[in-house]
Amino acid sequence: MEKAKLTYNGMTHEMPVLVGTEGEKGIDISKLRQVMNLITLDVGYQNTGSCTSSITFIDGDLGILRYRGIPIEELAENGSFSEVAYLLIYGNLPNKAEQQLFSQRLTQNSMIHEEMMRFFDGFPPTAHPMAILATMVNSMSVYYTDYFTEDFQADTFDLMAASLISRIRTIAAYSYKHSIGHPHVYPKRDLKYASNFLYMMFDSPVNPYVPDPDIERALSILLILHADHEQNCSTSTVRLVGSSMANLYASICAGICALWGPLHGGANQKVIEMLDEINKKNLSIKNCIDSAKDKNSKFRLFGFGHRVYKNYDPRAKILKQYCETIFKKYYYDDPLLAIAMELEEAALKDSFFIERKLYPNVDFYSGILYRMIGIPTNMFTVMFAIGRLPGMIAQWKEMHDSVPHKIGRPRQIYTGSNLRHYVPLDER
Ligand code: CMC
Repeated sequence: MEKAKLTYNGMTHEMPVLVGTEGEKGIDISKLRQVMNLITLDVGYQNTGSCTSSITFIDGDLGILRYRGIPIEELAENGSFSEVAYLLIYGNLPNKAEQQLFSQRLTQNSMIHEEMMRFFDGFPPTAHPMAILATMVNSMSVYYTDYFTEDFQADTFDLMAASLISRIRTIAAYSYKHSIGHPHVYPKRDLKYASNFLYMMFDSPVNPYVPDPDIERALSILLILHADHEQNCSTSTVRLVGSSMANLYASICAGICALWGPLHGGANQKVIEMLDEINKKNLSIKNCIDSAKDKNSKFRLFGFGHRVYKNYDPRAKILKQYCETIFKKYYYDDPLLAIAMELEEAALKDSFFIERKLYPNVDFYSGILYRMIGIPTNMFTVMFAIGRLPGMIAQWKEMHDSVPHKIGRPRQIYTGSNLRHYVPLDER
């Protein structure tokens, strides 16, 4: 094994260098404090590995993304969302019997407890669907208690995973129905994952849902592209919360909250709001690019830039192409697509973006496709969460099964006051 040497204050410490299956290297600094009384400091974890993982591989310089070794392009072209979920969680694509059992579990766990329906009435119709989603997922821990025990068994995990993947879709659709004041629509057992979601979203007694294979495929692709992305902010949150042995529902709820932020999953909503504003106010593309570069301006080019990708995000490439194809096929026009493409072209020619290697990320084109499907803008991040759920579950399981199990607990460099003493109120 290769070693890295650190010399400090006359002492030398040798640390093992771990090499991943794709050749990435990392120095194992776990004994550094014990030996040299030093910690490492890396604000925002820009260069810190928190675990080893065999789930997802990203090469950010080359723009490569693979789930369990399979390129994202192949999965988006050929896979179904449920088989990709299975692949992420269990490590391999399911065979026919495994696929059948998994689908059966999803179907049997698709309804939510009728008592949970009352929770929806407690939210104002204007409630953001991400708040509703996090609350409802957390409350699953009090309704589906049979699914988790201290002495965690493989089959209870299988049920809990299926319960989450299936019910999150029902919860999301019900929150939409609640927001528009319509009665909810129960899931149908003979529909596939994406179709069932669209049916629950858009079917009504006066306007029956008419299935469209292209639209259902578009949704499946979107979900597949979001299904995992290794140690991002929300997934790391799921691992961290789960490392205290919190149950899967609570850990996923925390991950959903982390995903909501506009620098992460919330960026898809921000992108459409930004494109919409450019369209409505007829803003010039040059001015937008200039504002995005101006450190004194609050304007950021949402859907651009990524901590890991220093090249075109492969998911954005697939979505951009898919938008163009399906728009042509349907003779559908959305002025926001043209604006997005103009913005992209201008940014990719600009030295600010070139020097910083800022490219469109997954959120840049996803919202345009969600719009075509009919998903309201404030639900875009919920769609991200539905897609990301199998990855979060897979990462939680990997963390949970890791030996030795370690609670996540970073260190810090304290920069506060030195010792001082309590002063009574009337002497302050
Ligand atoms: N518009 C303008 N400037 C940007 C942008 C942007 N979207 N992204 C990064 N920069 C600049 C940033 O100002 C900084 O410049 P300088 O070096 O002069 O200070 C440089 O590029 C590096 O940016 P950073 O913020 O230090 O990079 P980071 O790795 O900490 O942040 C990011 C990554 C995704 C949070 C950031 O690029 C960003 O805020 N993008 C917009 C929000 C967005 O689209 N988020 C979705 C990410 S993909 C989906 C997901 O997995 O969450």
